[in-house]
Amino acid sequence: MKPAPKWQYDERKPCGVDFTDIEEVVAYDTMHQKFRDYARSSEEIMRRLGLGSGSIVIDIGSGTGAFALHAAKKCRTIYAVDISATMLEYCRQNAERQGLSNIVFCHGGLLTYEHVGELADAIVCVAVLHHLPDLWKQVALKRFLTMLKPGGRLLLFDIVFPSWEENSGAKIEYWIQAFGVMATARMAQEALTHVRDEFSTYDWIMEGIIRRSGFRIDAAEYGDGFQTTYVCTRE
Ligand SMILES: C[S@@+](CC[C@H](N)C(=O)[O-])C[C@H]1O[C@@H](n2cnc3c(N)ncnc32)[C@H](O)[C@@H]1O
Repeated sequence: MKPAPKWQYDERKPCGVDFTDIEEVVAYDTMHQKFRDYARSSEEIMRRLGLGSGSIVIDIGSGTGAFALHAAKKCRTIYAVDISATMLEYCRQNAERQGLSNIVFCHGGLLTYEHVGELADAIVCVAVLHHLPDLWKQVALKRFLTMLKPGGRLLLFDIVFPSWEENSGAKIEYWIQAFGVMATARMAQEALTHVRDEFSTYDWIMEGIIRRSGFRIDAAEYGDGFQTTYVCTRE
C-alpha cells in the first residue's frame, strides 16, 4: 500500500464523540437502541438495495453492528469496516455470541480501507461520512466506486442540513432537544457535539459530491429532523 501523502486528512483522530473509548461505544449502542429499531432498519436497507442470500456487502463505519449483525443473517458476506478498533471488537464479540461467521472485520477507514475481496454488490454507510470534511467526502465516495461491481448500489445515511435560513438555529435547537426526549440527555449532548464539532454539510453539497463521484441518486429521502437517506447506483 502506498503511504498516504502528508497533506491527507488524518481520519484516525476522533472527530466529535471518541469511539475509541469503550465507555462511549457501550453508551452509543444503548442510547441508539432507545430510538432505533436495528432489525427493522436493516431489513429496510436490504430491501432498498435489493440484497439477498448471495450478496456481498461492505458496511463502512459499521460501529457496534447495527446493520452488519442483522445483514449477516441474510447475506453471503459482510465486510464490517471501522476506523475504531474498539467499535470493531465490540461488534466482533456480538457476532461471536450470535454464532455469525460470515462477517469479515476490517480495521480501516473511508480514506484508507483497501478492499481485497470480491467486488461488493453494495456499500452501506450509515452516519459515518460526516466524520470527514467536504474535500475528503468526495475522495471517500470515489474510493467506494473501486470496491463495487458495475451497477453496485450505495446506501448513504447522514445528517445533512438544508440552506441556512433565519430559523435554522431554532430548528437545530429543537432537533437537539428532541433527542433528550426520545433517548437520553447524553444523546442530546451527542447531537449538540455533532452540530458543533463534526462535518455534516448541506444537502445540495452532499448531492453534488455524490453525483460528481460517479453515483446516480435513485432516491433521496429527507426524514424528520435532518436525517437523510440516499439510495444510489454506481454509474
Ligand atoms: C455514528 S457511528 C455509526 C455507526 C453505525 N454505522 C450505525 O449505524 O450505528 C460512526 C462510526 O463511524 C466510525 N468512523 C468514524 N470515522 C471513520 C472513518 N473515517 N472511516 C471509517 N469509520 C469511521 C466510528 O468509529 C463509528 O463506529
